[in-house]
This record gives sequence, structure tokens and C-alpha cells, in this order.
Amino acid sequence: MLAADEPQLARDCPIQDGDVRLDTDRYTSPRVMSQEFERLWMRVWQPACLVDDLRQAGSWREYRVGTKSFVVVRGQDGVIRAFRNSCLHRGLLLCEGQGRSNSLRCPYHGWAWRLDGTLSHVQDREFFNPLDDSAYALPEVGCATWAGFVLINPSPEDSLSLKEYLAPLPEHLNSYELEEYVPLGINVQAPVACNWKTWQDAFVETYHLPFLHSQGLLFSNELGTRFSLLGEHSLMVTPFAEASGRVRTVTQRQVLEAYLGQLPVTSRKLMGAESLDVDELLARHGSGWSDGDEPTARDVIASMLRGVTEATGFDTSPFGDAQVTDVWQYLMFPNLLLACHPGHAFITWVTPDPVDPNRCTVRVVNLRWTRPEERDAVREPLRVLAEDELSGAELARLGRAVEQDVVNVRRQQLGLRLGGLTHQTLSRHETRIVHLHKTIDAYLAR
Ligand code: FES
Ligand SMILES: [Fe+2]
Repeated sequence: MLAADEPQLARDCPIQDGDVRLDTDRYTSPRVMSQEFERLWMRVWQPACLVDDLRQAGSWREYRVGTKSFVVVRGQDGVIRAFRNSCLHRGLLLCEGQGRSNSLRCPYHGWAWRLDGTLSHVQDREFFNPLDDSAYALPEVGCATWAGFVLINPSPEDSLSLKEYLAPLPEHLNSYELEEYVPLGINVQAPVACNWKTWQDAFVETYHLPFLHSQGLLFSNELGTRFSLLGEHSLMVTPFAEASGRVRTVTQRQVLEAYLGQLPVTSRKLMGAESLDVDELLARHGSGWSDGDEPTARDVIASMLRGVTEATGFDTSPFGDAQVTDVWQYLMFPNLLLACHPGHAFITWVTPDPVDPNRCTVRVVNLRWTRPEERDAVREPLRVLAEDELSGAELARLGRAVEQDVVNVRRQQLGLRLGGLTHQTLSRHETRIVHLHKTIDAYLAR
């Protein structure tokens, strides 16, 4: 395995014989799924929602993972807390979906709790033998906010402290000020017909880029991807705005044209590159580099991207050009993927289905830094879709590469379910998959 925090090219990532096989039943077996519920999901910090989902006192949101359900709620004191989501009278699921209210009231017989979890109302209390209210406070679980996420932990006493768990992500991510970003353009949740790990695996390697996403060969260099293992988490940096190391001859002009050509027209407009007139762009962004140096496509694109982000009011000066052009994609163990750019992030997070190992639920959010006074006007509300709605135009909205990935993970799950295949075989390119599964195994072995 890699030394922690040392970015390495795939070819330099050692991979042990014992790590290259992943048994197929990890992805398909109800037995493995229930072990994961008990030993992993019940003992790990995990994002339950965005802080932005709970902006006002009384805003609450249900978080389901497997057969468990929690409600996260912002109290009158502004504090966000998480509770187990069963009514303490006769066990009804207390809160379903999301909402905003002054108290959490059970729809069955009307018992209610204050937003801090203390019992506030028992209908016809005199019909009960004496009740000790303190024994009827909603059971609280671990809850904290970090980087714009509400993180919960069902058994904090039985797991790493939040600080230990996060390390070293804060050092990497604090400068992005993610807690100041709001959902913009994409904020959607939908079931997907694959195991949650089939989803994670598909986004933590770039081995598939030249095949599944061959449209990117001229502007993303998957062979230059560098990997770092960061505690339970990991990072992959893929150079963008340069051609794949597999492409033998390519001009900077071709790279620039290919990069701009794949962007949605709206993004090109923002970048002042609507016309795709490369000569004009070179003239506009080429000045200021040392004499005789033809600007590279990376230089031009870094300059354009900085211009777009600075125009929103976000200061990009603390970030190097590589952070501006390249994709810095973090896996926050176990289920969050976070691709960071200054002023912009693209996240997916995945949770297992309660009963079927061949299904999961995915939330995809595009986040952008926005001036505080503009946030309410631009914020994209969360849309919860049924599975068959994540197709056609809805799927295309996620971008061509993610569309290809979603189609692909469904197809991989179908292949894994056929039976007869005992294991997958991994390469150095798939170092982060090895790390993810070894980390899961360490939880399952505890
Ligand atoms: S089950 Fe909730 S009030 Fe009776
Ligand atoms: Fe992909």
C-alpha cells in the first residue's frame, strides 16, 4: 500500500497478491449486507444531509441507512442534533422525508418532542401509569457539522472520535470553505440498481476513462492520475486540460478545443468562450506569460476558470493552477465522493438499500460558492426521484460522463448477479478500490 499522504502514479502503487481479488458476493450477498449494517454503518461517521438542508430552526430531515432511520433537526438554539427515529410510545417511524415544525409529533397518537429531543406532550397522560419524562427523551446519536455536511454516528462511543476519523481531510479541504457553498443546478436523489460499493468503485479509479469515457482522451490525462491514501479516506488528482498520456501527438490548440467543446454552452458563456475562437482566446489569455512561451492549454484554461470564479466573488489566489484545472477527488469513507475546485464542488453520496444488496440510493449535488445575499435566489432545491426517473433527460442533466457511469454500474451489477464469477481482479490503477475494501474489512473484523 502507499505511504499516507504521498501522491503516487498508478504504476508506482504496490499491490499485494492478497489484495487483488474482490469476492463477488461482497456486492450481491444479503449476509454481507447485514454484516455491513451492523459493523460498519452503525459505527462510522457518515453524512446525513447538507447543513444547507437545515437552514432554519425546526427544519428536519430523515436519514435512512439500511434498515435504520434517524432524524436530524435544527433546534431553536440553532444546534443540529440527530435522534433515533422511532416514536417512544409504540414505535412508529416518527419523521418521514423532510419538513419544518416546532416539534416532532407522532402522527399515530400525537406524542410530541421538542426540537432538542425532550418529551413535550403525551396525549391523555392521566391514562398512563406515571411516566418519567427523562426516560422518554428521544435517544440522541453522534452528530456534528463539518465542511457543510451534517455528519452522524449511530454509536460514537464505539468508534473513532470525529477528529480522528476526519484526519487529515481538514488540512486538505478547509481552504475551499465548502461550508459556504450552496446547491446550484443539480441537487437530486434517486435509487440506482447497483450495490453501494459498485457505485463507489466506479468513481475512484481512472482506468476506465479511455474506454467508457473515451470522449475525454484529448483533455484529461488519466495516466497522470496520482493517488494518496489519507487515513480511512483517499484522494485522486487527475490532470485536466491536458491530453491523456496515451495520445501520441496532439497540439495545445486541439486540447483547448476539445476541452471547451465538451463544456455545456452555459459554462462556455461564463468563460467568455461561447464562440470557440481559439485564436481570440489565446490573444486574450496569452498575455502576461514570459516571452517566447506559447501558453499551454492548461495556462489558458486556468486563467479562464480563475476569471469565472473570481467574478462570483470567491478568492482563488490561495490555490495553485493545478487545483484550478485538475480534478481533486476525495473519497470520504465510506460513502461520499467530493470533487473539489476553488469555489465549486461536485459530490455524490451513496447509501445502501434496506433489503436488497443490488440497490442503493445516490444523491448528486453541484455546489458553488455564492454571495450570501444571492443564495436564496439561486439555490437548487433537492428533488427526490423514483428510479425510473433517473433516465433520459434527467440522467443527461448530470453530464455525459456521469450518465455513462450510471448506465455502466447498473450493467456491472447485472453481470455480478449472474453467478459463476467468483471474484473481480484489480490492478494498480484500482489502488483506491483496494484501500476502500480493506478499510471496510477492518470494520467488519472488529
Ligand atoms: S406510536 Fe407514536 S404516539 Fe403512539
Ligand atoms: Fe466514470
